[in-house]
Amino acid sequence: MIPIIINILWISLCLHGANSAKILGIFPAPSFSHQQTFQPIWKELSLRGHNVTVITTNPLGNNSLINLTEINVGFTYEHLLNSSFIQHLYEPDSVFRKVYDIHRLGLEINEAQIMHEKIQHILNENETKFDLILIQVVQSFTDLTFGYAAKYKCPVVGISSLGVFFHFHDFLGNPTHPVVSPDMMLGFAGKINFFQKLQSLLYNLWYRLFYYWYILPNADRVARKHFGDDMPYLGDIERNMSLLLVNSNPVIHAVRPNVPNIVEICRLHISEKKPLPKDIKDYLDSSTQGVVYFSLGSNVKSTYLSVEVRQEIIKALGELPYNVLWKWETDHLPDRPPNVLTRKWLPQQDILGHPNIKAFVTQGGLQSIEEAITNEVPLVGIPFITDQPSNIKRIVELGMGQMVEQQTLTKEKLKKAILEVAGDPEYKENVSKAKSIMDDQPMKGVDKAVWWIEYVIRHNGAKHLRSQAADMSFFEYFMIDVALFLFACIFAMYYLVAKIVSAAKQCTNSNNKVKRN
Ligand SMILES: *[C@@H]1O[C@H](CO)[C@@H](O)[C@H](O)[C@H]1NC(C)=O
Ligand SMILES: *[C@@H]1O[C@H](CO)[C@@H](O)[C@H](O)[C@H]1NC(C)=O
Ligand SMILES: *[C@@H]1O[C@H](CO)[C@@H](O)[C@H](O)[C@H]1NC(C)=O
Ligand SMILES: *[C@@H]1O[C@H](CO)[C@@H](O)[C@H](O)[C@H]1NC(C)=O
Ligand SMILES: *[C@@H]1O[C@H](CO)[C@@H](O)[C@H](O)[C@H]1NC(C)=O
Ligand SMILES: *[C@@H]1O[C@H](CO)[C@@H](O)[C@H](O)[C@H]1NC(C)=O
Ligand SMILES: *[C@@H]1O[C@H](CO)[C@@H](O)[C@H](O)[C@H]1NC(C)=O
Repeated sequence: MIPIIINILWISLCLHGANSAKILGIFPAPSFSHQQTFQPIWKELSLRGHNVTVITTNPLGNNSLINLTEINVGFTYEHLLNSSFIQHLYEPDSVFRKVYDIHRLGLEINEAQIMHEKIQHILNENETKFDLILIQVVQSFTDLTFGYAAKYKCPVVGISSLGVFFHFHDFLGNPTHPVVSPDMMLGFAGKINFFQKLQSLLYNLWYRLFYYWYILPNADRVARKHFGDDMPYLGDIERNMSLLLVNSNPVIHAVRPNVPNIVEICRLHISEKKPLPKDIKDYLDSSTQGVVYFSLGSNVKSTYLSVEVRQEIIKALGELPYNVLWKWETDHLPDRPPNVLTRKWLPQQDILGHPNIKAFVTQGGLQSIEEAITNEVPLVGIPFITDQPSNIKRIVELGMGQMVEQQTLTKEKLKKAILEVAGDPEYKENVSKAKSIMDDQPMKGVDKAVWWIEYVIRHNGAKHLRSQAADMSFFEYFMIDVALFLFACIFAMYYLVAKIVSAAKQCTNSNNKVKRN
């Protein structure tokens, strides 16, 4: 009996096959909420014995992870803060401008990171080989990093901490119906009206023209400078991606059909509860009337708010019958009401887990929403960028919270929304229902992500999961050749029938003439 068990164990170990691969992870976006989603993946991969090298703006810095090498490119946070993307964050800028800004900023930041001496060292010594490259895909921000895949010629797995732009769906042959799955940049949610449908279709077309004719060729030009002129076209490298892991929340995201090499993951960053710092714990414990937790996340900083909006928020919070814990990024909050406590940084997940928290005022980032649902806290959303407006609209639709728009925010509106969400138990009940759906998964988010990554390592890619649609031209996919043929047939038939009819007419006419004569 025992030898059999040992045998089975041994065989399963061998079949595992993914033992100790060399993995390069590239996570260039200077955004804590994005990095927080990926950290558990690279940690877990290293604990499983893979030799993992990671380029990140937020290293874990845990020396006990001996199989992990982290290259800290956190200096590029400064590029983000200086960028026009951040400066335009609070203006109702056009979506076109935002798409352009994301691309420009991505090129700038990725180039600065590639020039980093430690990365140059790896790129220039020719011994290092990798078995797999993980690339953070975030909109058109990380196109340049696919140059690494040209250098190491190994399978690539893309990971996104939110949804992805159209071109990634195109690369893997995934359908992007403008009405069923409108792009997140449009901020739509639920059933959309006629004008939104029109807008979605036009955006769908515009985005492709802009991406394939401007953004991608531009990124390709820059990539050639760093990875050599003999690399394949950048678009072909991206298209060659083996697998794409997309962060999709089963509660708030609209269901969409996915090809098998697009795998949905969620709740990667949800961690075990840790004890709160003493001062915060005392504050929460003693606030028996309830606490509102206020944080606009890690990208949107409260200090960027216009003075008028900030004054309205402060007045609203001051009039609440609750205490308020506010993540405010400077030491001093002007006109701070007595019921408001600020801290530059707060352990959000653990705070949301405290029983006295009544409501969470958030910008509506996916990670914050996941934390709120996990801890059954109803929400008040003040959305800003990318997926935040559509996330919050969905939360409102599901009866889990209220939305207050930043452009029209007043003291009354914010106060009313918070009082309603904190006071009506139905909101919390609806969040609890959502939690029970979100919890009901066959495995934890990080285990699923790691399983799929090792799957690609075991099979040296995942060609067998690739949809034929991914390699079809526009003409083939939309069957334009077939449609043209059918049109031609119909036209020919029409022509033939018309000819016969007119011939028959002529015939009867001439018969009649003959008769009359
Ligand atoms: C490091 O990798 C080895 C296998 O290469 C594995 O046995 C070990 O558990 C890993 N250690 C840590 C701390 O990740
Ligand atoms: C470092 O990682 C180890 C292994 O998971 C963990 O036990 C330890 O708590 C981590 N240390 C810190 C400071 O996070
Ligand atoms: C991982 O690979 C690097 C070379 O890329 C090597 O220097 C390092 O020793 C390896 N780490 C382990 C734990 O094998
Ligand atoms: C950001 O702006 C500051 C102040 O204008 C400037 O000193 C700094 O060099 C800029 N940094 C980058 C990376 O552009
Ligand atoms: C690595 O290869 C490149 C191109 O083949 C070459 O230019 C470079 O000198 C090599 N570097 C080393 C350290 O051998
Ligand atoms: C496509 O990916 C495979 C590994 O999955 C790699 O060997 C090949 O070089 C890649 N081709 C291009 C054009 O990137
Ligand atoms: C909670 O959900 C139920 C069922 O979906 C809905 O009828 C109700 O209106 C929601 N509650 C709120 C406060 O929106």
